[in-house]
Amino acid sequence: MSDFDEAWRRCLEGLEQTGRRRRLRDVDRLGDGRVDGGAGPVLDFSSNDYLGLSHHPVLIERACAYARRWGAGAGSSRLVSGNLLPFGAIEAKIARGKGAEAALVFVSGVQANVTLLPALLDARVLGGEPLVYADRLNHASLIQGCAAAGARQIRFRHNDMGHLEELLARDEVLARPRVIITESVFSMDGDCADVAALAALAEKYGAFLYLDEAHATGVMGRDGFGLAHGLRNALVMGTFSKGLGGFGAYAACSGVLREYLVNRCGGVIYATALPPAVLGAMEAALDMIPELGAARERVAEHAARFRAALAAAGLDTGASTTQIVPLILGAEERALDMARALEAEGFLAVAIRPPTVPAGTSRIRFTFSAGHTKAQVAALSEAVVRLAKTL
Ligand SMILES: Cc1ncc(COP(=O)(O)O)c(C=O)c1O
Repeated sequence: MSDFDEAWRRCLEGLEQTGRRRRLRDVDRLGDGRVDGGAGPVLDFSSNDYLGLSHHPVLIERACAYARRWGAGAGSSRLVSGNLLPFGAIEAKIARGKGAEAALVFVSGVQANVTLLPALLDARVLGGEPLVYADRLNHASLIQGCAAAGARQIRFRHNDMGHLEELLARDEVLARPRVIITESVFSMDGDCADVAALAALAEKYGAFLYLDEAHATGVMGRDGFGLAHGLRNALVMGTFSKGLGGFGAYAACSGVLREYLVNRCGGVIYATALPPAVLGAMEAALDMIPELGAARERVAEHAARFRAALAAAGLDTGASTTQIVPLILGAEERALDMARALEAEGFLAVAIRPPTVPAGTSRIRFTFSAGHTKAQVAALSEAVVRLAKTL
């Protein structure tokens, strides 16, 4: 064992002692909304496959067809010889769906956020050090993107447009570029940003808006394309890995910005392009989502019923209004106990703890899918309400 391993081991021991060591668990996804982690199948209430598209035969068939036609891998970055034919059609469909001039596909949501932000926040290009206003509950990849850009974040209170405006107004005298960074649906709280208010503030203070629609894409907004449509002076990113059932990410923006990113964003320049099978699933999902209104309604109804059952029992689901419903339990141990008890009853719903969420707000993050049935949601609600009384 090297001295280095000794350092990593000490770190792991520290995590173990504080109960924060994470472990990968092998699971078999059974394709019908159940997963088997070795102790028998349980119903999955924790994945982001909101429309159940990950196992949809149309996506699988298109993925296979693209792999047969173009191979298992793209072979190189898009700028070298990997800009395969499907990219053009996929990006045109995204741009149309988002009401944007252009779109650009990325390898994943994390990779997009971590590499887009350094390109966008480049002080030499912007002509000054940008002032970066970030929601306090932004996803880790947005925070990492800002860190990679060397930008100091000015954090505004979660979804608090009054606070954001106060900060923008305070800094109005400074002749510096301004950028607002936030999410449209928050991944751990399931609440929505007021996109119209954000766009209005951005316009009023001459700020650029960077909006992450990872959890809105496929599930909310016009034709299921998310809550933002036709924004100016904005980059709206989203993922194919959640509601769209596959993998990868997109940025919708102006045509000039797209060209700038092709030239200045490391995640485009240096990364091998996505494999053809992934592009096939992407394009099939984009073709399908406008037609999935009934599935979107089913997801929203499941979540609303669950929230109502928990609220009637006096349980705290925070500010959730979407398919993501947290049960906020506070102490880490309580969240872990609840997750274990639910699994013993046949439901997979994972405990989320610091540093993913703020200290004292450990929770179970439930997510709903069009594949769930009313009876399954009712059974989950009954179990959660009953177990919450004893834990
Ligand atoms: C808000 C947000 N942005 C980005 C990502 C990353 O997306 P991906 O899983 O496609 O890398 C996630 C994933 O959980 C997310 O919740």
